[in-house]
Amino acid sequence: MPHTYILGIESSCDETAAAVVRSGEEIVSNVVFSQISTHVPYGGVVPELASREHLRAIVPVVRKALADAGQTYQTIDGIAVTQGPGLAGSLLVGISYAKALGFALDKPLLALVVSGGHTHLYLAEQKTEGWFYDNIGHTRDDAAGEAFDKVAKLLGLGYPGGPIIDKLSVHGDATAVKFPPSQIKHRDRRARSKPIERIAAEEKNRPRFDFSYSGIKTAVLRYVELHEMQPAIDARRQALAAISKLTIEDYLAHCDKQTLDLVASFQRAMVEDLVGKTLAAARAYDVATLFVTGGVAANNELRQRFERDAAMEGLPVYFPSRPLSTDNAAMIAAAAYPKLAAKDFAPQDFSAEAGLALSGPR
Ligand code: KG4
Repeated sequence: MPHTYILGIESSCDETAAAVVRSGEEIVSNVVFSQISTHVPYGGVVPELASREHLRAIVPVVRKALADAGQTYQTIDGIAVTQGPGLAGSLLVGISYAKALGFALDKPLLALVVSGGHTHLYLAEQKTEGWFYDNIGHTRDDAAGEAFDKVAKLLGLGYPGGPIIDKLSVHGDATAVKFPPSQIKHRDRRARSKPIERIAAEEKNRPRFDFSYSGIKTAVLRYVELHEMQPAIDARRQALAAISKLTIEDYLAHCDKQTLDLVASFQRAMVEDLVGKTLAAARAYDVATLFVTGGVAANNELRQRFERDAAMEGLPVYFPSRPLSTDNAAMIAAAAYPKLAAKDFAPQDFSAEAGLALSGPR
């Protein structure tokens, strides 16, 4: 079969991304335009601003992806775009652009699901018709990345929280603050509003491995209150806001030992919960291989702990490279390849689905 070139477009959150992937496996170009600097003053992603930034960036980002790949609008074989989950207004920019391109160029359009802003465990099985995904666990409240972002925000460390907590944690004592293990007492309210998912889980009567991260965020807040850390946090927030290009040294200069210990202990608790539940699920379902993806999969301690603990159980564990762990369009273009081969094209009237979940085959 001759090589095929898929142009991937991803605009689900705060990155505008385009990539060209050859025959589902080789990244020939990968362009990611991050909007982080737009959202920093607000301490998190502002959906309206995100849509506006996507509108500005989408055309130059796609043009650059094609130019870097030595391709043109005419030479690509198909266009793949993220359908969900994500911010509805942001998704719509990518989808509308991809639809317009597909229509104007008479190229097939492929709609893809990515799992961003969520903490999910999927059992992935390859069958003759393709890959099937079965959700065997999800977060009942905050996603892991959200917990990193919220804790960083409440400690005056800015946004996005994950990368900075990752870097600061090595300077603190991760055993200094003990967080109780997360407990899930209530029934799954999300599943109640999604009867199909609940019925599927109940019918199969299979074990679930759900996550909950709002408790640890509240525990950090309690610790801050109990130890009267607020004045120091306010001073740090103000000092860091005055620096234009922040380096790790700037953060360290404004963090005392108590803060570094708290950050390191928080990260340790998150990592232990994520790794512990995932390995328990792997045992229960007797899986052959683990794949850890998404923004939090870029975390150094998480990677090390997964590698160590999975190796002890003889389980191979794979991570995408760090640039491919966070939002990007190369994954979209690669995942679309089996769809192109199967002529599983998206209808022109498909739309954004903010809460879309994986199933199969995709
Ligand atoms: O999957 P992703 O790129 O975007 C969506 O949510 O769509 O994930 C972003 C999340 C953010 O919450 C960010 O704080 C977190 O991933 N993150 C990290 C690290 N890098 C990004 N969390 C922990 N450690 C990191 N190194």
